[in-house]
Amino acid sequence: MSAVARIGIVTVSDRASRGEYEDRGGPAIREYLNEVLTSDWEPVARVISDDQPVIEQTLINLCDAEGCCLVVTTGGTGPAKRDVTPEATEAVSEKLMPGFGELMRKVSLEKVPTAILSRQTAGIRGGALIINLPGQPKAINECLDAVFPAIPYCIDLLEGPSLTTNESRIVAFRPKKK
Ligand code: MTE
Repeated sequence: MSAVARIGIVTVSDRASRGEYEDRGGPAIREYLNEVLTSDWEPVARVISDDQPVIEQTLINLCDAEGCCLVVTTGGTGPAKRDVTPEATEAVSEKLMPGFGELMRKVSLEKVPTAILSRQTAGIRGGALIINLPGQPKAINECLDAVFPAIPYCIDLLEGPSLTTNESRIVAFRPKKK
């Protein structure tokens, strides 16, 4: 499949959504994808509040109406009262992909002890993989570098567009077909 891959980039932050705080996470994800992806892709960006119904509706819209094959969120994964991105992700996902959160926390713990505070997870809705990242912009590269090698094959299995990567940054692992 050679379709242009649409990728959702969702900043979940009360302050960024009110314009009180510059969104740095969304642009950092976009920059990461520009560096790593060599296949055609286009971003579908959203900056939203930490309200669970708003997060759920945004994820549903990006997966079902906007046709994204991958949706990456940033923020709202911690223990604070308003941190509900993982709950929204679980609520809209048909399957959970706990390995993504496990690996991202493992590599993040090598950088910062408070990585244990992130409840970041991942799930599948229809033909889309949804992945949560913490809100700290520096966490974006650390987390995506860890899981990105498995993302193109996951999207192949969802029958989405074939993603290719700049192999000096990320080597996508595709097991041989049977
Ligand atoms: N992971 C990485 N790689 N780098 C970080 O700086 N910050 C941690 C954690 N994970 C961090 C990280 C902190 S301090 C918190 S509170 C949690 O992510 C949750 O962040 P969030 O609520 O902004 O999603």
